[in-house]
Amino acid sequence: MATKDNSRLECRVCGKLARKAHSFGPQPIANAFLPLDQARQDDYRFELAIAVCGDCGTVQLIDQPERERMFHGQYAFFTGTSQAMTRHFAEFADWVRRTHLRGEDPLVVEIGSNDGTMLANFKDRGIRHLGVEPSANVAQAAMDRGIPTIVSFFDAPTARQIVSEHGKASAFLAANVMCHIPYLHSVVEGIDELLAEDGVVAFEDPYAGDVLEKGSYDQLYDEHVFLFSLHSVSRAFAQRGFELVDALAQPTHGGSMRYVLARKGARTVQPAVAALMAREDAQKIADHASWVEFGARCERSKQRLLELLSDLKAQGKRVVGYAATSKSTTILNYCRIGPDLVEFISDTTPIKQGKVTPGTYIPVKPRSDFGPPYPDYAVLFGWNHEKEIFAKETDFVRSGGRWIRFFPDVEVVP
Ligand code: SAH
Ligand code: TMP
Ligand code: ZN
Repeated sequence: MATKDNSRLECRVCGKLARKAHSFGPQPIANAFLPLDQARQDDYRFELAIAVCGDCGTVQLIDQPERERMFHGQYAFFTGTSQAMTRHFAEFADWVRRTHLRGEDPLVVEIGSNDGTMLANFKDRGIRHLGVEPSANVAQAAMDRGIPTIVSFFDAPTARQIVSEHGKASAFLAANVMCHIPYLHSVVEGIDELLAEDGVVAFEDPYAGDVLEKGSYDQLYDEHVFLFSLHSVSRAFAQRGFELVDALAQPTHGGSMRYVLARKGARTVQPAVAALMAREDAQKIADHASWVEFGARCERSKQRLLELLSDLKAQGKRVVGYAATSKSTTILNYCRIGPDLVEFISDTTPIKQGKVTPGTYIPVKPRSDFGPPYPDYAVLFGWNHEKEIFAKETDFVRSGGRWIRFFPDVEVVP
């Protein structure tokens, strides 16, 4: 979607004017891990810039590549690669079942169901479930484990198809996908048609409050067209008669929020909603100025990271990266870090190995290349998996290796 004027746009939530707050420059597709020759040929870039709506305060990308460029039969992200995320989704599913699933023979619909990691928990308990997932390869992985999946982008027409084939849903779930979809109105309309009268909507996404607080700008990349807050989510759903009934902060992806919505009056509104809204007001989360300041902080972070990596290079140290996350694409391209500063990135996802990082062409190698023998430093691109990674890489530290972290500040640990 190319816009003529890249300093503003019509807010995707309320239609009013959203103005640019910061640009992260030209960026490639964050998950386009390709062989080097192919990466050089397909040198696609778009400007990654955020705008803040002057009316509803929603933070959103000005421009986003068309969806088929991002989600297709060779999508590189598999939820199941992280054990911690697999556990997280088992808990999410269990919480939905215990607290929110009502009626006889309820149907659970999850969009962005990926390899079926979340829905497997409903399958195991004999609860009717259905995934909606446009990326054919990850959808196939789900179907291979017996999880029924519609290979499609969710929107209002898809919702109508589901209702005619499976009936209404008791729960509509999503994780790290609602913030991917620019046509939010069609999604909310679809939910309105799909959901039973007393049904519940529960979805998680990286939280604007955490990003603003930590300066974690790597949550911004092509797929993440929205950076939601309680304010923006309640506004987007109010247009179809839904209200936010609960909100629960999550530690995943460096700070996420689980939003719980129902039809107005159908459920009790929990005190967390007002409390978190008040915190957002205090944080000035909806103010354009807050995000301009955030941009300035990103610039300082970039300078510090580049200084550190250049110093280490001058000292002849070996520096590699750990976890070729989609988020790291923003860091690498914004800071212009290539193989001269980071030798390679180790990653456990087979489809990424032997490829190069999007736009910066750093080789991605299997975990076995990480060591032993270990490098001197490892940049922790998978910082949201820090606990899991630190726990299994104790030998690296014992051998004298040190981690480089960049949020909330650029630092070397231990
Ligand atoms: N829910 C998983 C996967 C998140 S990645 C998790 O949290 O780990 C985002 C997923 O959403 C991808 O698998 C992508 O193909 C899918 N997706 C993107 N647009 C979508 C849409 N409009 N409807 C349904 N799924 C979509
Ligand atoms: P994510 O941060 O977007 O969830 O991406 C996780 C990426 O990190 C995925 O490519 C797999 C990789 N990874 C590792 O290489 N080692 C690990 O221990 C973990 C947890 C993830
Ligand atoms: Zn708006």
